[in-house]
Amino acid sequence: MEDRKSSVYFVTGNSHKFEEVQQLFDKELKMITLKQLDLNPLEIQADTLQEVAKYKLESLKNRISEGSYFIEDAGFFIDSPLNGFPGVYSSYIFKTIGNEGILNLIKPFEESKAHFASVVALFFEPLDKAYFFEGIVNGTVSSEIKGSQGFGFDPIFVPNEIPDKTFAQITRDQKNKISHRGKALKQLIEFIKKRT
Ligand code: IMP
Repeated sequence: MEDRKSSVYFVTGNSHKFEEVQQLFDKELKMITLKQLDLNPLEIQADTLQEVAKYKLESLKNRISEGSYFIEDAGFFIDSPLNGFPGVYSSYIFKTIGNEGILNLIKPFEESKAHFASVVALFFEPLDKAYFFEGIVNGTVSSEIKGSQGFGFDPIFVPNEIPDKTFAQITRDQKNKISHRGKALKQLIEFIKKRT
């Protein structure tokens, strides 16, 4: 990793996430090159995203010998009527019942409240320490699947900031401005800017 001082690795197998983060780096942190490392870090089942993220980051210590790197862990929380479900089970629920299954679950209820949360865990080489950044975005669950952009639960999440559109109906740039991941990443970018 010859150019490690001017590069940061985002460890993810999710190309949609990588593209979102790449766009933020291109806009706000031009002097650092973002690189994708698809290493599939170990995921534990835990009660909070923070615990999952911490473990994921630690599991990479023996696999990345040098350079700074980060991971991101996100969850979709339907606060009402599902008391935060699927939350830390988001990935499993998306794979099993998907967006249609979620809509069926909440169909009997007139109103919904939901949020996405993101935890970014960074191992920053010059300081040899782990740092955590968090972001959330509040909204509601759409009554139908709408839009074709983005990924995951984007077609059923309506952010409060743009109440007539789902995340899948807005551009990546618009999503980055208000999203959980955009907010967490902006903090990471500020952190790196101050230290390079
Ligand atoms: P992960 O564990 O962070 O990869 O995400 C957990 C689940 O939430 C996966 O099914 C993702 O597809 C979904 N997810 C994560 N971030 C987003 C997002 O920004 N929009 C929509 N779905 C997401």
